[in-house]
Parts: sequence; C-alpha cells; structure tokens
Amino acid sequence: MKILGIETSCDETSASVLEVSNNLFTVKSNIISSSQDLQAKYGGIVPEVAARKQIEYIIPVVKEALLDIQPEQVDAVAVTIGPGLATSLQTGIDTAKALAYAWQKPLIPVNHLEGHLYSPLLADEPSENVIQFPAIGLIVSGGHTELILVNNFLNYKLLGRTRDDAVGETLDKVGRLFDLPYPGGATIGRLAPTGNPTTYDFPRPMIDSDDYDFSFSGLKTAILYASKKDESMKSEENLPHFAASFDKAIVDVLSHKLAKAIKNTRPKTVLMGGGVTANPSLRNQIQKICDDNSVSCLIAKKGFTGDNAAMIAAAGYFRYQQNYYINPIPADNKWQSIKASPNFKLI
Ligand code: KG4
Ligand code: ZN
Repeated sequence: MKILGIETSCDETSASVLEVSNNLFTVKSNIISSSQDLQAKYGGIVPEVAARKQIEYIIPVVKEALLDIQPEQVDAVAVTIGPGLATSLQTGIDTAKALAYAWQKPLIPVNHLEGHLYSPLLADEPSENVIQFPAIGLIVSGGHTELILVNNFLNYKLLGRTRDDAVGETLDKVGRLFDLPYPGGATIGRLAPTGNPTTYDFPRPMIDSDDYDFSFSGLKTAILYASKKDESMKSEENLPHFAASFDKAIVDVLSHKLAKAIKNTRPKTVLMGGGVTANPSLRNQIQKICDDNSVSCLIAKKGFTGDNAAMIAAAGYFRYQQNYYINPIPADNKWQSIKASPNFKLI
C-alpha cells in the first residue's frame, strides 16, 4: 500500500509517500521545507512565523512528494495531529482532510512522537520493518525526552520522561546563552568531537535517581553560572572543550538511564529517534550500550532524525493495520472533528 504522510507540527513542512509491501518500507519521497533559517534570526521558534511558512510551503511540498503518483494510487493519508504548535499543526490537518475527502481515502491521525519512535525503520533504500518485542524507545527531540517500553506496535508503557526541559531544548537554550548559531543542538553536536570532554565538570542531573525520569534545566543553570564565573569558557579556543564537556554530560545521563532500563526490562530491540539522534557521540554511546547488552540497536538514519513526514506515514501504517483510521464520509462527525491536539500525549 502507499501512504501519503503529512507533518507540520513545528517549523518543518514535510510530505512523503511511503510504500509498504511484504514487510518492506520504501520511501518514495520525503520532502522537507523548513523555516529554520528564518527562525535563526530570532534565535528560536516564533509560532506566528512558523505558521505563516507552513501555509506558504504546504501545497508545493505535497505536490513535490506526490511526484507522478496519481491520487487513486494513494491508499491512505496520515497526518500529525499533535503534539506541536496549534497553528502549524492546523495547516497539515486541513490539507490532509481536504485530500482525504477529495480522494475518498482513509485519514489516519498520528502522534508526532509515534513518528519519531518508528523513524529508525526508515532508510533511503528499501528496508525491512522488523522490531523484535519487547523494545525500548528513546525519543530525544527539541520538545521531548521519553523512555518508552514498547510491548508491541501501538502498545506502550512510559518508563520515564523529562520533568522540565527536553534535551534538545536544553542544547538550544545553552546555544543561545553562548551566542552559537541556531539551533544550538546541531552546533554543539558539530563542535563536541573536536574538544576534550573532561575539561569542564558539569552536573549529570538525576543520573542515579531510582526512576527513569530526566531533568535538564539544572544543567542549563549550572552552565549559566559556570560561564559567568569563567568567561574564557566562551572563547574560540575553549568553545570545543565546552561543547564536548556539555555533550558528554547529556550523553552520560541518557545512556545511563537506557542501560538501566535494558537491565531491568530485557528488551530485544532499542529504538532511538528525534532530532538529537543526529548527535554523533550519542549515537556511538547508545550503539555501544546495545552491543554490550546484546540488544539489537535501531537508530534513526540521516535524513530521518529531525521532523519528517516519512516517519508519520510509517506510524500511520501501523495505526492503519490496527484500524485506527477514519473514512471521510461527508456526514460523519468523527471525521470532521479531527483537530490539532497541541499537548497530545502518546502515553
Ligand atoms: O525532532 P526535532 O527535529 O523536532 C522536535 O520534534 O522537537 O528535534 C529538534 C532538536 C533541536 O533541539 C536541535 O537542536 C536538535 O534536535 N538537533 C541536534 C542535532 N541536530 C539537531 N542535537 C544534537 N546534535 C545534532 N547534530
Ligand atoms: Zn519532532
């Protein structure tokens, strides 16, 4: 079957056609247009700017994703309904509803985090969608940090999540404190491998707590005070060492909690997705923990770590398999009532 995925939860406008046959995912197209360069001018996401760009980009992006695929070849439309910015989400939802209605195809509402969870199954070449259960999902993005036990497709138990800032949010906020190019996460991820991670000793919040929760806002505050005390931390010479030390603190916390979850729940697969997954030291460390524990490790590949519609189509496929879709019958309230859900929880 072919699914058209649409993702507009934040500052990326994305559409994708995903083909699924005989357990094989083929990403036919995955078009992503971003207003990130514009947001960079403001040093962060301005919802009004993001929403206006969503409206401008959505039709060209969907058109490009459809390539030469005819509407009758599309079997369903999957769309992100949350969590995210209400005004950004609305553009994707309205577009998906209009297409599903015009084409008379099932509409699949998808949680953005579920997209990140299944994003490790995507690749530029056709790839098998095999997850051995139980699995553990680690979602690390700009808005979320969650550790999830995945008993089966769509069957989840929350192990832990951040109590305050998400890991990407922390990287971006600290990036702003240091006047680094936006988004800070990408800049710090790029600088870190060139520095010495033992130069600065930053806290590892909640690393030994009895649960699987995270807390990163204290780390941000500790860095703020440390950089005020030692201004040379921001110098050109020390910036790579700062980035490496900060990066290491974050990677230590994430990998320590994952290792604990692996020991206690004995998963067969680890899945990691979300924008921060692009960070090379995090990828290496998570892979190492999986290898040490003989667990299969699936980490989102380049092009599928940040927000994209192929992951929404993938999650939509698993939802469709379990009949979580709505047929756009003209008089049906259920279909018409699909709306943006900015705080939509996966679990
Ligand atoms: O998943 P995503 O694109 O959007 C959300 O759902 O939030 O994640 C965006 C986050 C941003 O905080 C950004 O700084 C971070 O991903 N990010 C990175 C890297 N590239 C983007 N963090 C660490 N290393 C990177 N290379
Ligand atoms: Zn995301």
